[in-house]
Amino acid sequence: MTPLRFEWARIDGLSARAFHAAIALREAVFVVEQNCVFQDADALDLQCWHLLAWSGDALAAYLRVVDPGAKYDEPSLGRVVNAAAFRGKGVGQALVTEALARCDATWPGHPNRIGAQQYLLKFYQGFGFVQTSEAYSEDGIPHIEMLRSAP
Ligand SMILES: CC(C)(COP(=O)(O)OP(=O)(O)OC[C@H]1O[C@@H](n2cnc3c(N)ncnc32)[C@H](O)[C@@H]1OP(=O)(O)O)[C@@H](O)C(=O)NCCC(=O)NCCS
Repeated sequence: MTPLRFEWARIDGLSARAFHAAIALREAVFVVEQNCVFQDADALDLQCWHLLAWSGDALAAYLRVVDPGAKYDEPSLGRVVNAAAFRGKGVGQALVTEALARCDATWPGHPNRIGAQQYLLKFYQGFGFVQTSEAYSEDGIPHIEMLRSAP
């Protein structure tokens, strides 16, 4: 696999092609693969940092970090997604690790909160997140809130 190249930008700092690649990947997985009808591109896309992991010209993975105060008090990772061809190769691990390093640099001393798909409890526990809510349904998919203390 070509080594990953990370791009970290506000929406206005992304090229139209890069933002299109991100939205196309999000829709391919969250809407089509997970068979879920919901509003993917939303107002929070304007209040977040976007993290894109490129493998050559292909977008391998993506997430966004919503600004503190926009969704939760804490900066919040969301839309964490890998292209199907890039799963099970450590790309998700590398993506979240990069995002948390960016968070710690951007908002030193701040914890992070996420609304995670429940089936990924162990995946996020591996980064120091702990479950802070009962399971709840969001767009018909079981979710839990998780919190990572500031390092
Ligand atoms: C979740 C996702 C980003 C993980 O990416 P990935 O590149 O496949 O994960 P990695 O190869 O880096 O695996 C990291 C660890 O998480 C575990 N893991 C990965 N996917 C998992 C899954 N679906 N269920 C449980 N554990 C999983 C791996 O076993 C691995 O553990 P290990 O280090 O002990 O071996 C990817 O599967 C995905 O895009 N899923 C669909 C979108 C989604 O549901 N996103 C979550 C929104 S909250």
